[in-house]
Amino acid sequence: MSRRKKLYEGKAKILYEGPEPGTLVQHFKDDATAFNNKKQAVLEGKGVLNNRISEHIMENLNRIGVPTHFIRRLNMREQLVREVEIIPLEVVVRNVAAGSIAQRFGLNEGEPLPRAIVEFYYKDDALGDPLVSEEHIAAFNWASPQDVDDMIALALRVNDFLSGLFTGAGIRLVDFKLEFGRIYDQNDMTRIILADEISPDSCRLWDMTSGEKMDKDRFRRDLGNVTEAYAEVARRLGIMKETGNGTGDEAI
Ligand SMILES: Nc1ncnc2c1ncn2[C@@H]1O[C@H](COP(=O)(O)OP(=O)(O)OP(=O)(O)O)[C@@H](O)[C@H]1O
Ligand SMILES: [Mg+2]
Repeated sequence: MSRRKKLYEGKAKILYEGPEPGTLVQHFKDDATAFNNKKQAVLEGKGVLNNRISEHIMENLNRIGVPTHFIRRLNMREQLVREVEIIPLEVVVRNVAAGSIAQRFGLNEGEPLPRAIVEFYYKDDALGDPLVSEEHIAAFNWASPQDVDDMIALALRVNDFLSGLFTGAGIRLVDFKLEFGRIYDQNDMTRIILADEISPDSCRLWDMTSGEKMDKDRFRRDLGNVTEAYAEVARRLGIMKETGNGTGDEAI
């Protein structure tokens, strides 16, 4: 395991070469960053929780026919995934106004949006991941119009599935971010599949009754008890038998 080749180290995860061609090992770290790396911390146990939560969600998405990169979990912090060519876009789905959309349009945080809104951001930390339109995506060839249609359709299916999943856990799905990638089949035809992770790092999740935040905004806004909130999400999804101390050692 320790001799594997590290292919990429990001802010929250490391990608290693996988055991077979076309696979990768995705390793979840405890590191947390926000505001374009200006704020950093190590949140003990976060990686374990995100690995489990993302596994649970991706596995269920695979089951309902939303194609994802997830193959199987390998251990507490790692999962085997299909290697994709990442499309350099962050696809955000919003159900309720929060964060940048509230600021941009002067909406109150917590206001339900008239319909689910899908947005695209260009993945470039140096530029601060700017909001882009389909025109920009086509003109700069980040993805084809067909890819964009596929990503919107998949993102809305993920939204329907996740909204139901979290509602059942007493959690309001405010918004979330997805990353997609391209895979090539035998005839060199391409297909878009869901990649990266779905976890409290990439979703806004509010307790249905108290409105309390259960996601990375606890870190961004210094609300404390970050891993405890992630552990509570995992517990409510039925992933962890106990709430535990957030280190996740009781997860399996
Ligand atoms: N199946 C996959 N194949 C290839 N790359 C992937 C796959 N799934 C996720 N990735 C990429 O792996 C990286 C995961 O690391 P991490 O989330 O820590 O990155 P990051 O610091 O957020 O930076 P980035 O801006 O590159 O996303 C991301 O760059 C993501 O796009
Ligand atoms: Mg990332």
